[in-house]
Amino acid sequence: MRIFSGIQPTGSLHIGNYFGAIRQWLDFQHNNECVFCVVDLHAITVPYDAKNLPNLVQEKAIVYLAAGLDPEKVIILVQSSIREHTELCWLLNTVTPLGELYRMTQYKEKSTKHKKEECAGLLNYPILMAADILLYDTEIVPVGEDQKQHVELARDIARRFNSKFGETFVLPKVKLPKEGARIMSLTEPTKKMSKSEADKKSSISLFDSPEEIRKKIKSAVTDTYKTIKYDKNKRPGVSNLLTIYAILSDRSIKEVEKEMKEKSYKVFKEELAELLVEKLEPFRRKREELLSREVYVREILKQGENRARIIAEAKIAEVRKKMGLY
Ligand code: TYM
Repeated sequence: MRIFSGIQPTGSLHIGNYFGAIRQWLDFQHNNECVFCVVDLHAITVPYDAKNLPNLVQEKAIVYLAAGLDPEKVIILVQSSIREHTELCWLLNTVTPLGELYRMTQYKEKSTKHKKEECAGLLNYPILMAADILLYDTEIVPVGEDQKQHVELARDIARRFNSKFGETFVLPKVKLPKEGARIMSLTEPTKKMSKSEADKKSSISLFDSPEEIRKKIKSAVTDTYKTIKYDKNKRPGVSNLLTIYAILSDRSIKEVEKEMKEKSYKVFKEELAELLVEKLEPFRRKREELLSREVYVREILKQGENRARIIAEAKIAEVRKKMGLY
């Protein structure tokens, strides 16, 4: 099957990005045709530092490799290196009703946050995402829960296009992980963990030092109950920590809950912090290694670009023809 997914090169990647997206990608890479993208064109829809963007892109490619994606098996790609993404975005603009864009949750959140600097690109963001997905005849899109609505819109756009111009696009399906589709903030556990959050204590970055991890988990918001119990609605803080523990230790939340039942919050948090330190250690090590191999990383991205271009050029030619472009 063809798999496509992407991550914006803003901020540092956190365990939410890992559990929601990258961890699923690792499973898919063995028996499928995968394209994993650093979506720099999406990142420029809110204020950003142009000088630093290339570094952030390179850094995300390093994360993909450090996490264990095999460049021999998957295509690792920088979105802006393939112009067909933007061309298809324009073409799909013409079959997307405006109302659909205004109702997107992420648009509502981001346009409120960036009220003064809001640009048309922020509203059209999901169309570019649909272009990313449809350009590669993608069947499965592994993402976290917050991107589900966008993938569903991509599917609607494909359906609309096909009925207007004839069968052209595969209808993509969203794939969420069983656990970890929505990891919550450590400081405000009713909100999702987010790269763009200013308070660094709210998330665990994949490259936090052991000391940072211990401090952040120690100060994570829980509640005043005495026992450790999973209850997403009434006790979001401790439920989030239990989820993280369960994923990292490859066990069910029920099992972890049972094990932690008699323990204090203090001990539970200490054990969770040590587990995080241990599980994130290989990331830190591999990243250090890759930071000194810039040429190698560039080479991988170039190779990804060349492989992706073959698929993208053929698809855009088909779309142009169907739409009657000269
Ligand atoms: P982005 O960069 O915001 O997030 C990258 C991936 O991480 C997931 N994620 C989470 N999962 C669980 N818990 C969280 N707290 C959490 N926060 C983020 C996201 O769901 C996502 O899978 N628009 C996309 C990027 C994109 C894309 C695409 C994705 C562009 N084109 C085509 C798939 C297919 C975005 O901004 O993701």
